[in-house]
Amino acid sequence: MSTLITNLGSLVTNTGTPLTDAAVVIDGDRIAWVGAAAAAPPADDRFDAEGRAMIPGFVDSHAHLVFAGDRTAEFNARMSGQSYTAGGIRTTVAATRAATDAELEANLTRFIGEALRQGTTTIECKSGYGLTTEDEARALRIAAAHTPETTYLGAHVVAPEFKDDPAAYVDLVTGEMLDACAPHARWVDVFCEQGAFDGDQARAILTAGAKRGLIPRVHANQLHHGPGVQLAVELGAASADHCTHLTDADVDALAGGDTVATLLPGAEFSTRAKYPDARRLLDAGVTVALSTDCNPGSSFTSSMAFCIAVAVREMGMTPDEAVYAATAGGARALRRTDVGLVAPGARADLLLLDAPSAVHLAYRPGVPLTAAVWQGGVRKV
Ligand code: NIG
Ligand code: FE
Repeated sequence: MSTLITNLGSLVTNTGTPLTDAAVVIDGDRIAWVGAAAAAPPADDRFDAEGRAMIPGFVDSHAHLVFAGDRTAEFNARMSGQSYTAGGIRTTVAATRAATDAELEANLTRFIGEALRQGTTTIECKSGYGLTTEDEARALRIAAAHTPETTYLGAHVVAPEFKDDPAAYVDLVTGEMLDACAPHARWVDVFCEQGAFDGDQARAILTAGAKRGLIPRVHANQLHHGPGVQLAVELGAASADHCTHLTDADVDALAGGDTVATLLPGAEFSTRAKYPDARRLLDAGVTVALSTDCNPGSSFTSSMAFCIAVAVREMGMTPDEAVYAATAGGARALRRTDVGLVAPGARADLLLLDAPSAVHLAYRPGVPLTAAVWQGGVRKV
């Protein structure tokens, strides 16, 4: 079954300059053809885009979606002047442990659906609100049923039971908990931050995960400067996430390595913090991704469009750079070559915007612009 999507006013392919008066042919779950509408081959079915803009589906490479409860009160307190600390995570840990599998899965599918309706066709999902062997493994088991991009984050914070013996918690995270989680995860992550895990602990956790075949990614330099970014580059992590507090040496390390800098403006927005400097990273030649960090504490948004708008307004990105970072950049951060682009052979993950160009994602902040979404060739929205 093939479908011709034609009369696209503009088409962002991420393989060159955007096309105008373009068309795309989907065949099964893949893109079969891309080019000028006038030259499009015939297909079984036809969709008239009426001059609207199309981009690849968003690739949200950083989200924490297996949790229960919310932290409205904490957000409210922050907006009344309190500051954000890593410790708030424990509130969600208590609620998540108390939830049934069915409740956690219902929450997860609700957020994945919410993201899909806003054009996100690939989403990464971390554990990290269980912090026991059983609770981390179940979070990943539940996540793995809904996305291939699952990340073991047993090292989100030290579990409350181990607060007086963090070394014993690191032993658990690198031992029995890793054994139980590795079969359900593709990635290993650690929150390298004051109040969470230091550089030596992060190194031990990422190295242990890598030995089990999990590829590292790191929550790095979010709230303070720390060793996370340089550790990520040194270990060949796919991504260093947050990158808010960077020295020139950190920027140089990213520029000289293969690690994507994943920026999460929802977190700075919702913690009323200084934004990362995307311009500085881009000018240094670093690959930048934009993601939501969707979680109940520091960034309770599933909207990639919102992240694009903030990145353009506050972080020095052009609209084109931000759209690229939210699609191709996310794909790079997940080491995926089949998503984040519109090209023959790529997955048919497509977002049709209710707008004549992708610039409108930043130009019309807060306005829902989803006209249609295809995921794996299937029209979902
Ligand atoms: O990416 N930084 C660590 N983890 C999340 C916050 C999680 C939470 O506050 O519950 C983040 O911002
Ligand atoms: Fe995060």
